[in-house]
Amino acid sequence: MESRARRMWDLARRFAVIGSAVALLDAAASTALAQGQAPTKAAPAATKAAPPAATRAVAPAPTKAAPAARRQAAFNATTCLDCHQPIKAFYESGKHKNVGCNVCHDKLTEHSANRRVRPTTNMDSAVCGSCHKLQFESQFRQNYASVARKEKSQQTGLSPNPSWEKLMTPHPFTREHNKGRAHSFAVLDQFLVDRAFGGRFQPKEGWQYLVKEGNFKVWDVIEDRFPDNTDQKVFVPGTAAAANPMCWTCKSADLILDWAYLGDPVPGATWSRTSRVVELVKHINHARNCIFCHDPHSAGPRIVRDALIQAITRPEKDTLFHADKRAPKVEVHELGVRGFTRKIATLSRHDTKLQCGQCHVEYIGNPGLNLDGTPFTTADRRSNTFPYKDVQGTLDFYTSINFRDFRHGITGALLIKNQHPDVENYYGSAHQKAGVECHQCHMPKMKDAKTGRTYTSHFSVSPRQYLRETCLTCHSGWTEQQARYVIDSLHNRVQGKTRKAEFWLTRMIDKFEEARNLGVAEPVLHQVRERHTLAHMHWEWWTASNGHAFHNPDKAIGSLNRSVIVSQEGIKILDDAMAERRRVLFAPAAAAAPAPAAAPAPAAAPAK
Ligand code: HEC
Ligand code: HEC
Ligand code: HEC
Ligand code: HEC
Ligand code: HEC
Ligand code: HEC
Ligand code: HEC
Repeated sequence: MESRARRMWDLARRFAVIGSAVALLDAAASTALAQGQAPTKAAPAATKAAPPAATRAVAPAPTKAAPAARRQAAFNATTCLDCHQPIKAFYESGKHKNVGCNVCHDKLTEHSANRRVRPTTNMDSAVCGSCHKLQFESQFRQNYASVARKEKSQQTGLSPNPSWEKLMTPHPFTREHNKGRAHSFAVLDQFLVDRAFGGRFQPKEGWQYLVKEGNFKVWDVIEDRFPDNTDQKVFVPGTAAAANPMCWTCKSADLILDWAYLGDPVPGATWSRTSRVVELVKHINHARNCIFCHDPHSAGPRIVRDALIQAITRPEKDTLFHADKRAPKVEVHELGVRGFTRKIATLSRHDTKLQCGQCHVEYIGNPGLNLDGTPFTTADRRSNTFPYKDVQGTLDFYTSINFRDFRHGITGALLIKNQHPDVENYYGSAHQKAGVECHQCHMPKMKDAKTGRTYTSHFSVSPRQYLRETCLTCHSGWTEQQARYVIDSLHNRVQGKTRKAEFWLTRMIDKFEEARNLGVAEPVLHQVRERHTLAHMHWEWWTASNGHAFHNPDKAIGSLNRSVIVSQEGIKILDDAMAERRRVLFAPAAAAAPAPAAAPAPAAAPAK
């Protein structure tokens, strides 16, 4: 088989030299590769019969990166691998062993002559797409059902106003907090959102940017309106400048070779947690690169997000991953050829909880406050941390590492602004316990209409877009209408509870203001602030999360109910203290004597 594969390669190369149809080359080359190798678990039999690039023999429109695919054939990696032993181990163990180094790396002649000349690395997913067209094109498909700039604080949103602003003031997310849309926009939207860069980055073509779709370089679409000023500050009223170097790690892998483990500012690493973010983001172009989940050298499953690797290798072994009996084997590799360490972790199989969990999780990705309210900066490693725990576990963890996000504008309580704990909420759900994974509902197997080939759709959006290929493959007796009905019903149930949590939380805040104005004593207010922190966590966690109403409705409702109970406790403490205060203030006898501050209520711990 091996020699036949080689002959096919040689044949393919001759076609390349002649410079004729790229499609034919790809078909021949991929067939050769496929025949030289046994089919894998991840790639079903269909892959062997018709490998990715073979599709292009039928649909010969060459993609942008086609020349890369053409160049690979002639490459001899022996000398490279002699020096690059860690890469050798990946390369030779996996399915890319016939993909030339020069497909993704450039300036190699110069590098071979002088190893100090740094080769370039192409981070554009289109490189992968030149051989894996179906996965590539599906990943960058537009989802018209998820409209841009849909604020969660709209009346129909996850956290509507007027509660939102009151509960979150003065956090930058009150400037703009949108529902997510397709992965193509992961970088673009982060640059344009009103809370991130003070309004300095704007689309070159104004609002016409809204029709932009597919795989694009973000700097082709936006411009910096203040190029001479690299301060991270507000330029346009109504915006905030809250982005920092950690943000990109959940949007793009473009800087993976220039960022040390956890973003530590170490010699040799161009970028770190303490970099000037406006300068750093000028080097980011590509959204959700394939290499977040696939090692480019072995083609095997992996994760690269450093704070996740840190969490699942913590000596405490205290995360949801550690409690997962089905978790894959994880192997951490320390790489980095230029004098500092970066880490990747390979997985014994795809585990999309971990792979999607590089981004769809709650994390600290910003400077913050210690429990005494004093600030810390991004020089502190805590500013890049994943708890990887459930809602209460996360709050307890934050207490144990002396962390809060912001001080509430009315009560002064120290609160958490959650990110998007989609993965944490999925753990412990009925589906997770039954062994169902994110990709079974969000990355279904599809058939290519032209070739009939089965492939994994990388169009990871709401299953509402493909109920037949997801829900109905397991719930075989259901219709699409029934599946949608189930999803809508669960959505309603959790949204209803969320509105209730908001009612009681805002009522507690209003009472707090009233009590303070009435002169209720600080120890009482302090007890209520503690309740505020807890009730806030059990509410905001859910408005930050996506899909939880379906992923784990029972957990969501239990937690939202807890928020209500804790707010009601706070209200009771305030009502009692205010009654006492009024008794003292307005009692006839009190007129003579100066009013003492209300006595603190019994120091009960907030309900667990
Ligand atoms: C003589 C040993 C040697 C050989 C042969 C060699 N390299 Fe390297 N390579 C190195 C060293 C050393 C570095 C780190 C250079 C530095 O410190 O900047 C490096 C760095 C790299 C990098 C990392 C660039 C980055 O952005 O950090 C890549 C990619 C790479 N080599 C690819 C190759 C390829 C492909 C070949 C074969 C054409 C090759 N190397 C041949 C020694 C070698
Ligand atoms: C399919 C694309 C692809 C191919 C083929 C490829 N690389 Fe890479 N390589 C990458 C990417 C992307 C990175 C960035 C680091 C990462 O993703 O882990 C990288 C990083 C590297 C590094 C830096 C590793 C470090 O320690 O930081 C070296 C060295 C390297 N490649 C060598 C090679 C050699 C040698 C070959 C051929 C045998 C090769 N690469 C083939 C995409 C590729
Ligand atoms: C020059 C063509 C080429 C390029 C470019 C290429 N691949 Fe591959 N890839 C292959 C071939 C050939 C196979 C093996 C046959 C198959 O499984 O389809 C493969 C297999 C895979 C697999 C399946 C692995 C398995 O174990 O089943 C994944 C995942 C993958 N590649 C991801 C990537 C990613 C990510 C990139 C870009 C960083 C990339 N590929 C770039 C040719 C390529
Ligand atoms: C590198 C980070 C990253 C990874 C990994 C990632 N996502 Fe996302 N995802 C995002 C970002 C960022 C957005 C929002 C993009 C926007 O609104 O511009 C998003 C949006 C989404 C959406 C909403 C899409 C829509 O059109 O409404 C879904 C669903 C989703 N992701 C599911 C997944 C699943 C499932 C996985 C794992 C298979 C995954 N994501 C892996 C970062 C990531
Ligand atoms: C968020 C993680 C994630 C990202 C990003 C990602 N993939 Fe995948 N990919 C997966 C998972 C999970 C599977 C396997 C699903 C299974 O085995 O059922 C897969 C499977 C594959 C396969 C094997 C063949 C198949 O269709 O099952 C190829 C090839 C592939 N991906 C290429 C790509 C390319 C190209 C990109 C970038 C455009 C990419 N992937 C981005 C998670 C990802
Ligand atoms: C059993 C099927 C199923 C599994 C497994 C699943 N999801 Fe979902 N997911 C859904 C459904 C259904 C929705 C839409 C819920 C709604 O509209 O209320 C959704 C919504 C989402 C959304 C929000 C999409 C939007 O339109 O805003 C994200 C993000 C998401 N899921 C990520 C994940 C991640 C990450 C995992 C794995 C940890 C996962 N999902 C596992 C079914 C699933
Ligand atoms: C890979 C198979 C698979 C897919 C895909 C899948 N389910 Fe399920 N689902 C199951 C299994 C198995 C159970 C039973 C779990 C149990 O009873 O322990 C289940 C249970 C449920 C439940 C009951 C959950 C509870 O907490 O009581 C609902 C509702 C449901 N599925 C709806 C859906 C919808 C809607 C989709 C599509 C978005 C979907 N499922 C996709 C396998 C699947």
